[in-house]
Amino acid sequence: MASVSLRKLCKQFGSNTVLRDVDLEIADGEFVVMVGPSGCGKSTVLNCIAGLQEVTSGEVWIGGRLVNEVPPKDRDIAMVFQSYALFPNMDVRHNITFGMEMRKVPKPEQETRLAKVAQLLQITDLLDRRPAQLSGGQRQRVAMGRAMVREPAVFLFDEPLSNLDAKLRVQMRAELKALHQRLRQTVVYVTHDQVEAMTLADRIVVMNAGRVEQVGTPLQLYDRPVNQFVAGFIGSPAMNFIAGTVQRAGSDLQLVTREGARFPLPRVEASEGSQVTLGVRPEHLAPAEAGPVSLKVDIVEPTGDMTNLYGRVADELVCVCVHHRLAVTPGQTVMLQWPLEHVRVFDAQGRRLPVQGE
Ligand SMILES: Nc1ncnc2c1ncn2[C@@H]1O[C@H](COP(=O)(O)OP(=O)(O)OP(=O)(O)O)[C@@H](O)[C@H]1O
Ligand SMILES: [Mg+2]
Repeated sequence: MASVSLRKLCKQFGSNTVLRDVDLEIADGEFVVMVGPSGCGKSTVLNCIAGLQEVTSGEVWIGGRLVNEVPPKDRDIAMVFQSYALFPNMDVRHNITFGMEMRKVPKPEQETRLAKVAQLLQITDLLDRRPAQLSGGQRQRVAMGRAMVREPAVFLFDEPLSNLDAKLRVQMRAELKALHQRLRQTVVYVTHDQVEAMTLADRIVVMNAGRVEQVGTPLQLYDRPVNQFVAGFIGSPAMNFIAGTVQRAGSDLQLVTREGARFPLPRVEASEGSQVTLGVRPEHLAPAEAGPVSLKVDIVEPTGDMTNLYGRVADELVCVCVHHRLAVTPGQTVMLQWPLEHVRVFDAQGRRLPVQGE
């Protein structure tokens, strides 16, 4: 097992800078999940840790050893690629055992480990097939199996569950979590799935355009995002944002939109007339008998246990998400309670303004 440390990591492809001063300290045994929009540099970070891409500048440390000059095979890392990267001419069995053969693991030991991961990943009946004879989700599980039969210092997973159906995905997620709790290996895991990120991570790294925006526990990022980008990226459906200027009403603050709609703001350090954006999560809004805000409903989405309402509050698009069924129809107007303690405020540069006393 090993810690991983990235220091001032930069990566350029020609004139295109894709990683800018990435600093990240991952503790031994930690499960770190990286999230961010497509193209922000997540796979590039994994490739730099694995040594598959040379860094332009900065340092990669694994287990207290500077590995910039260490070839991939000597970094003691197992990686599951976004594109699976299976050997096309080998059957599933050999795809999984190949690495162990190379490292001269005794045959019976190979068989035991193979049987264990095959059962875990539900691919026992596929062992004699070649990758071309498998579905995307089956290939993905073989790629996972190949990494899991090794006992590396660090696991790198690049969207390993993205091609599985919903049920299998939930099962695999639970297996991964249980496996990590048992073995406590260091894991860096990339995903686009909010639930995966929130449930698997000890800490989440939010990346944007080659930079780290924030690193924190799932709940830290959810409750105390440092900026509007993180606030909008963590949580699904995404946080609602409404832009306007600050006005004082006695000792209270309000946000006034361009159209003149008013929304109560919590006590933040913001001067009268300054441009701010308020953020409130869909799950913190709910219909009420009376409330300061009314929503004109455009779309109703019942998901079974939840109901999502999409509509407009004074020309601003707003989503409301409640954990029960609602008898609301499109075109209807409902009053919303305004949960001031859950309202976040961001300045013109997108930084979150702390509430007084925070
Ligand atoms: N070998 C390469 N040569 C040139 N540009 C590259 C290369 N690999 C990646 N890039 C560019 O670097 C940027 C980051 O790519 P990367 O694959 O790390 O993104 P990502 O965050 O993993 O995205 P996704 O979520 O879509 O997988 C992208 O703009 C991509 O086009
Ligand atoms: Mg990627």
